[in-house]
Amino acid sequence: MTFHPHQSRAIGAVSLSVPRRAFLTGGAAALALAGEAHADAPASLKALAARTGRVFGAAVSWKQLDDPDFAALVREQCAILTPEWEMKWGAVEATRYEPSYGPAVKIVNFADANGLQVRGHAALWANNLPPWGRNALLARGGDSAALTRLRQILQRFPDLADWDVANEALEPRNGRPDGLRNSALVTALGTNWIARSFFEARKYAPKSKLYYNEYGVDYADQQSEDRRTAVLRLLENLRKQNAPADGLGIQAHLRPGDKPFDAARYRAFLKDVAGLGFEIKITELDIDDKILGPDVASRDARVADETARYLDAALDEPAVMGVLCWGLSDRYSWLRRSKRFGRQDGVAARPLPFDDKMRPKPMYEAIARAFRAAPQSRSPR
Ligand code: G3I
Repeated sequence: MTFHPHQSRAIGAVSLSVPRRAFLTGGAAALALAGEAHADAPASLKALAARTGRVFGAAVSWKQLDDPDFAALVREQCAILTPEWEMKWGAVEATRYEPSYGPAVKIVNFADANGLQVRGHAALWANNLPPWGRNALLARGGDSAALTRLRQILQRFPDLADWDVANEALEPRNGRPDGLRNSALVTALGTNWIARSFFEARKYAPKSKLYYNEYGVDYADQQSEDRRTAVLRLLENLRKQNAPADGLGIQAHLRPGDKPFDAARYRAFLKDVAGLGFEIKITELDIDDKILGPDVASRDARVADETARYLDAALDEPAVMGVLCWGLSDRYSWLRRSKRFGRQDGVAARPLPFDDKMRPKPMYEAIARAFRAAPQSRSPR
């Protein structure tokens, strides 16, 4: 982390479980290894991830990058970024036939200028359609509306590291035998729309890793189990069709105290996904602390515990190639804006590894330790 002379050393914000000097020396050594030696900076998460062939990153919005402290933290900690909003259909083409890419380009330019990769998100998603989008998908010619969107966004950003080609397309509670979410995309492109979108996407982004991105596959409850089953069925189907799909994005929006976590069950799921030849990224990690009491220290500790337990299991799987948080600092978390998710008691959510003042929290320490303890990832294919 960049040390501002006026800013007291922030490391105190992290309840270190190892002697501070040892931790920092280790961290500085890691930074030195990564060519980012700072006098007493905590180890950068990207340097720790790189030690086992992985990436660490975060979702960012273009306006957040105007905040110099946040931009400095992103540069120091992240090897890969996801535009939180700026590449979505609703953000790009609010007016039909008039796509605008400015905010997305700003994020890509920031990444290029700092040697960071970018994950494209989300080429096709039934949520966040432009105002005219749903009707266009439901009308005759809806398939060409969807395929035009897919072609345009991938042709505009053809060289990204990853693309989330299809996002949140499954919903077992909709009762379909194929587990699909009932949506305008099914109407427009048919029940095989996910495979179709991968075949299309490969035409325009030949070098990107093409991902399917999904939430709700983390915990041991029946609903999560049903979602894992639906994901595996989808991945098997993509393999059967020889669809050019490379990876599964597991969003990992976690919520301590809500549902039980069964590490063995989760590891088995990751192993099944890897066994189908897919790489995996944890793509949107954050810890919704809405069920926890308001006390900051105990909330931060519980958030760190949930992070540690989850990542210890996830990073044991060599096919897990990276971890991205959905945001990097609590200051900009979507959970503070969401009416539906996040705390409803007026207490500011603390879901991310760095606090409002960009200081590392116990969650940061949990991620760092998980990367330090992780086995080597499998080599990228
Ligand atoms: O920036 C515009 C602003 O100019 C405009 O005045 C305002 C009018 O509503 O909208 C603003 O855009 C908002 C955007 O976030 C930027 O803050 C959109 O309304 C709002 O819908 C959008 O919400 C995003 C949401 O996805 C829907 O796209 C959240 O930021 C984002 O965190 C959330 O992220 C999703 C992932 O893409 C998929 N997985 C779940 C995750 C959390 O819901």
